[in-house]
Amino acid sequence: MNDLMDFVQQVKRANDIVDVIGSYLELRRSGTNFFARCPFHGEKTGSFSVNRNMQIFKCFGCGESGDVVKFVQMYESVSFMEALEILAKRANIPMPQTARQAQDEQYTKRKQKKDIYMDICRNTANFYYKAYRSEFGTRARKYMEGRGFDADTIKKFAIGYSPDDTSLVAYLHKLGFVDEDIIKAGVAYQNRQGQVVDSLRGRLIIPILNMQGKVIAFGGRALDERTAQFGKYKNTSETPLFKKNDNLFALNIAKEQKQQAALPNIVVVEGYMDVLSMYQAGFKRAVASMGTSLTENQAKWISRLTDTVYICYDGDAAGQQATVRGMDLLDQAGLDVKVMSVPENLDPDEYIKKYGAEAFEGLIAKALPLPDYKLHLLDNAFDIHSSNSAKRNEALAKYVKGSIKMLKALDDIRQNQYITVVSAKTGYSEDYLRRKLLEEATDTTESTQEVAVDTLSPHTVAKYFVASCILHGEDYARISQKPICDTLFLDKLYTYIFDCYNSNQQPALDMLYTVCPDASDKDYAQIVDVDFNKKRYEKNRAYFTECLRLIKAESLQAQRTKLLAEVKKDPSNMELMQQLAEITSQINNLR
Ligand code: UTP
Ligand code: MN
Repeated sequence: MNDLMDFVQQVKRANDIVDVIGSYLELRRSGTNFFARCPFHGEKTGSFSVNRNMQIFKCFGCGESGDVVKFVQMYESVSFMEALEILAKRANIPMPQTARQAQDEQYTKRKQKKDIYMDICRNTANFYYKAYRSEFGTRARKYMEGRGFDADTIKKFAIGYSPDDTSLVAYLHKLGFVDEDIIKAGVAYQNRQGQVVDSLRGRLIIPILNMQGKVIAFGGRALDERTAQFGKYKNTSETPLFKKNDNLFALNIAKEQKQQAALPNIVVVEGYMDVLSMYQAGFKRAVASMGTSLTENQAKWISRLTDTVYICYDGDAAGQQATVRGMDLLDQAGLDVKVMSVPENLDPDEYIKKYGAEAFEGLIAKALPLPDYKLHLLDNAFDIHSSNSAKRNEALAKYVKGSIKMLKALDDIRQNQYITVVSAKTGYSEDYLRRKLLEEATDTTESTQEVAVDTLSPHTVAKYFVASCILHGEDYARISQKPICDTLFLDKLYTYIFDCYNSNQQPALDMLYTVCPDASDKDYAQIVDVDFNKKRYEKNRAYFTECLRLIKAESLQAQRTKLLAEVKKDPSNMELMQQLAEITSQINNLR
C-alpha cells in the first residue's frame, strides 16, 4: 500500500458516494439503492443507480460504473488527480505532499497558469461590461436596442463593448497582469509595431462562459462596415482555456435551467444572436455551435444535460455533409436528434423577430427525427419522381443506396420501421433492403471485444468470481495462492488482493477503480455485478468453492505440462517422475 493509495482511501471514506452524487443529481431512494436519470447518456428512465454499501454507481442503461472519484472525473470532465482534489477539498482534507508529488509538476504549473488566464478573462469581461454602460458604449447600446434586445437579456449575457485599442490592456496592467499572460489568455495580441492591443477593439462583446459559469473567451460583433471587413464576428483564438470545438455558447445557461427542472431538450443554433433572441422569447435552452460543425465532445456535453436535441441551422448550413456528421455524433451520444427547418432562409433570431415565439414553437413541433430528415435530404438530392423512366430508375437506385447507409446506423426497432418506409417510397422490396443491409453488416468488422466476455473460459470466469467475492468482503472468500492471471486486469486485481493480505488489510471493492483505473466496463462489471442477495448467498458460497477448485486445477495442470516437458527431455530422472505422479494424483483428487 503506497501513500497515494492511503490518501485515496481517506478521501473516499470522507466522501460518501450517495452524498456526493446527490449534490449533482436528484436521487430517489428505492430499497438499498438510489436512482437517478443517468447523466452520462440520454434517457428518460432512471437506470442510474448508486449503492451506498458498495460505494459505487452503475448505469444499467449505458453500462458506466465506478466509484465516487470516477463519478466526479466523468461528471466534471477532469483527471483522476483533479477529481481527487475536488473531493479532498469537499471533505476539508489537505492534499498531502506525496499526492501532490504524484501529480506531475507540469500539471500544477499549467493549472496555476489557467487560473491566471481565468482571472484575466473575468476582469476583461468586467471592463467590457462597464464600457458598454459608459458614455463610450452609446453606439453598442443603440445597436442592441435596434435589434430589439431588452435590458434583462443584455444583463443575463453580460453584453459588453470594447471602446478602443489600448484601454483594456492598460486596465489589466493596472491590476498587475503582464503582457505575456494577457496575450496567452487571448484578449490581446501584439501588433506589428510591437504594441499589445485589444483583440476585439471596437466590437460589441459577447462573453463565452464554460459550464462552471466562468468567462473563458469572447465573441465580438462588428458594429460598422469598416470593422466588418475583418469579419462580422471575431472570437478569442484558441487558448489554454478555450477550445472552440469543445465549447458551446450558452451551455452554462442550459445547465442552469437543468438545475431548476429537468431539461426537456436543447436547441442547437448557429449564432450568438440566435441564442439571445430565443432566450428573450422564453426558450432558455438554446446553445450555439459558433459557426463550426459539432464535435464528439460537444455531443457529450449536451447529452449530460438532456436526452433530446433539436438542430436549428440556417438554410444554407443544414444538409451539408459536416452538418449531418455532427447530427450523427449527437445520435451516437445517445441523444434523440430532431432537425428543424426555418422557412424563408431566416435564422432563428430573424424568424422570432418576424413571426414571434409561438410560431417558433410551431417549428419545434414540426421538426423531423434524424432518419426522416436524412430521407428528406435524399429526396432533395435525387429526382425519384422523374417522368423519364431511365432517370427515375437511376435516381431510385441512388436513393436506396443512400438510405441503406442511413438504415445501417439505426437500432433494430427503428430499422424495421424505416425499412417499411423506404420500401413504400421506392418500390424496392423489404426483403431486398434487408439483404443489402446484411451484406453491409458483414463488410464491417464487428468489435471483437463485445464477444470476448461471453466466451470467457470457465477458468477466467472463476477468477473474476473469486475476486468479486473477496472484494465484496464475503466471509467465506479467501484465496491462498495467486492464480494464473490471463489479463492485466486480473493481474492487477490479484496483486492488490495479495498486497492487502500481506499487510493484514481487507481488500475493498471501493478500491477497484483505483487499483485498475483503465480496465474496460466489461471487466468492472464482472466484479461489480455479482448478485449477493440473501437468496443467492448459499449458492455463491458453494460456487466459490467450485471456482477455487477450477483455479487450483488450472494451476496444477500448468505445472504438470511443464514437468511433462522436462520428463521428456530427461526420462530417467526418477525425481521428476515422482513429482509428475504426485501432481497427477492431486489433479485426479480434485475431480
Ligand atoms: P451568422 O453569419 O449566421 O451570424 O454566423 P448571426 O449569428 O446571424 O449574426 P447576426 O445576426 O448577423 O449578428 C453564425 C455564427 O458563426 C460565427 C459566430 O459565432 C456567429 O454567431 N461567425 C460568423 C464567426 O465566428 N465569424 C464570422 O465572421 C461570422
Ligand atoms: Mn442572425
